[in-house]
Amino acid sequence: MKVLVLFSFYLSLESFYGSVLTSSLHYESIFNFGDSLSDTGNFLLSGALAFPVIAKLPYGETFFRHATGRCSDGRLVVDFIAEAYGLPHLPPYLALTKGKNFQHGVNFAVAGATALDSEFFSQRHLGAILWTNNSLSVQLGWFKKLKSSLCTTKQECDNYFKKSLFIVGEIGGNDYNYPFFVGGSIKQLRNSVPLVVGAITKATSALIEEGAVELLVPGNLPIGCSSVYLTLFKSPNKSDYDQRNGCLKAHNAFSKYHNNQLKKGLQTLRQKYPHANIIYADYYHAAMPFFHSPKRYGFYSGTLRACCGGGGPYNFNNSARCGHIGSKACQNPSSYANWDGIHLTEAAYRVIAMGLVKGPYASPPLKSVPLSLV
Ligand SMILES: *[C@@H]1O[C@H](CO)[C@@H](O)[C@H](O)[C@H]1NC(C)=O
Ligand SMILES: *[C@@H]1O[C@H](CO)[C@@H](O)[C@H](O)[C@H]1NC(C)=O
Ligand SMILES: *[C@@H]1O[C@H](CO)[C@@H](O)[C@H](O)[C@H]1NC(C)=O
Repeated sequence: MKVLVLFSFYLSLESFYGSVLTSSLHYESIFNFGDSLSDTGNFLLSGALAFPVIAKLPYGETFFRHATGRCSDGRLVVDFIAEAYGLPHLPPYLALTKGKNFQHGVNFAVAGATALDSEFFSQRHLGAILWTNNSLSVQLGWFKKLKSSLCTTKQECDNYFKKSLFIVGEIGGNDYNYPFFVGGSIKQLRNSVPLVVGAITKATSALIEEGAVELLVPGNLPIGCSSVYLTLFKSPNKSDYDQRNGCLKAHNAFSKYHNNQLKKGLQTLRQKYPHANIIYADYYHAAMPFFHSPKRYGFYSGTLRACCGGGGPYNFNNSARCGHIGSKACQNPSSYANWDGIHLTEAAYRVIAMGLVKGPYASPPLKSVPLSLV
């Protein structure tokens, strides 16, 4: 009853203020770029792998009850953001067909994607380990190709994109994951941070040149708290771990280093494009509270062990990864923050998304969400 009253109050408020409210307070569409943290099906549709595990349960078991191509048990940050603004979940770009309505947005993210182009990795003899060549600039190319079916004149495009939220990331995590997973050191990888950040800010500028005004650019998660990093970089030296949460200190410092460089890059962009609203999404600090106090967020099974995996102290086993023979999923994914060793659970993504939508982890803040949907 209370909800109904609130809702009808909101409706009358909305008809009272008419279009002012809808045009200035809401996003009417979302365009998303990124990697497996936000891919809603492109990797699967790209057919890059013959029998990808994300094509079957337990992937998708919690919310969709079937596999969708999302690398989680359920919804991702981008799904929760769309829901918060009353928008549908974004269709993956590779699923678009003629006649389908995608006016509320499109998702260009691809699992495994990098911020830097694949040539960068092939030059360093890492080309063969990339899951996909659909880097950030390839995704940007897809957007440009699609643009003519979204709007035609510059005026029409400007009016449409003015009310759109462009999410650029998270992207860049894989630019470090690939080399880290084959033995790269933090010292070596620090050198690539300015290049990775440069690729992200370049794509952000390109979108602004295309008419984007509202942009959300996420930083990296605390990789030192990730089951795969904790397993690969296990250390006998206690002082390598943060005593408060059990995460790897040096790897978390690396994430912070990337994030600080990204924040600086965004500051430069704000000066160059004062008309644009460039928002930094602080994934690192949005996630940190649940690593510090798991139980407060319902993560009774802890935050460092993966729900789905094939054994080991963090339930991440490279020879039996989630979905492969020898692995199994936990009973209650919402009591875990880590889903498959690399990606987070729907429950963890929800905490991060709410920290962005309601604050304080988006700066400057995102538009406030409609009363009825909070
Ligand atoms: C990426 O491109 C290279 C060079 O064109 C190709 O050899 C490789 O198979 C591609 N990788 C994927 C995952 O598509
Ligand atoms: C343990 O790591 C700390 C820094 O993380 C270092 O100062 C110390 O020398 C290391 N101890 C051993 C026994 O390797
Ligand atoms: C990892 O998986 C392999 C293959 O299923 C298995 O033989 C091995 O015992 C597992 N390791 C751990 C630590 O559980």
